[in-house]
Amino acid sequence: MVCSPIKIRNKLIPRNKLASFDSGPHHNTDKGLALAAKPYFLYRPGAVADPSPEVVSVRLRLAKKSSLLICPSQDHRFRSSVMAFQLEQVVPWGRSFDEYASMFALSGADLDKTILGCGDGPASFNAELTVRGGRVNSADPVYRFSAGEIALRIEETCTVVLEQTRRNADEFLWQRIRSVEELGRVRMIAMRRFLQDYPRGRQEGRYVDTALPSLQFADKSFELALCSHFLFLYSGHFDGSFHLRSLRELCRVAEEVRVFPLLEFGAVKSRHLDEALSQLSLDGHQTDIVKVSYEFQRGANEMLVVH
Ligand SMILES: C[S@@+](CC[C@H](N)C(=O)[O-])C[C@H]1O[C@@H](n2cnc3c(N)ncnc32)[C@H](O)[C@@H]1O
Repeated sequence: MVCSPIKIRNKLIPRNKLASFDSGPHHNTDKGLALAAKPYFLYRPGAVADPSPEVVSVRLRLAKKSSLLICPSQDHRFRSSVMAFQLEQVVPWGRSFDEYASMFALSGADLDKTILGCGDGPASFNAELTVRGGRVNSADPVYRFSAGEIALRIEETCTVVLEQTRRNADEFLWQRIRSVEELGRVRMIAMRRFLQDYPRGRQEGRYVDTALPSLQFADKSFELALCSHFLFLYSGHFDGSFHLRSLRELCRVAEEVRVFPLLEFGAVKSRHLDEALSQLSLDGHQTDIVKVSYEFQRGANEMLVVH
């Protein structure tokens, strides 16, 4: 079978490598190519995608045969159809303030700090902390989209994520949240809270469209940076170099960095953790692994603290 390739900037990729592909900003050329009119992100195990809008170079390791999701890097809609629970791409899925407070062992004094939530997506941490009088910014490439677009994407992915969770139920501890149904309710409450707050928060500059490993903030803009369920969790999607550059970037913009969880999908320790810890120590940072009271993904009850 001949598979027509698509061209993503300078790379030709056979269509049969694609899990999904947004036909929006392409056009079919008479040579049978779908030409990407805009720079694209690639999300695929083994692919290195640099989602910073300025950086459009995409290095591919085509050795692995797993599926590939392509998302345009700017003003596009995320689209995906294949969703293995090692989540072959990042999905908008948001936790609440209470979950953040336990994942990061946030004290009253912590909550008084200037906080960056990096990769907050549709979590309600920012909305809820702002109501409590906190000073928080959230950074996520998903904030280039409107509330309507994010809501649509949440709707598209919610059922699939819950179904995948049901299938992998033994990877989770069903104590704090007792069932998949309850998980769906709790997450949707948090994400609706985010969606209500988002238009105003975006106007106020609390939701910033910027992405690791290169954030648009000045050095030491924040006292505390939090990164929940992005770094380490997506170790199969983002390589060690991405992780290290991202952690260094968080250390640049904040005095203290906390990351949770330290496991990747499959409930195993992130393959990038040890190397990141040694490199950060060589950089002169103090790194501590601290046990926290939160555990939903089985065994995920530790955060990394970097000073
Ligand atoms: C699974 S969600 C976690 C959302 C939230 N932190 C929570 O715990 O509920 C992962 C988030 O990482 C965001 N993300 C993807 N690539 C990113 C990047 N390069 N820099 C920062 N965030 C990114 C996604 O858009 C998504 O919102």
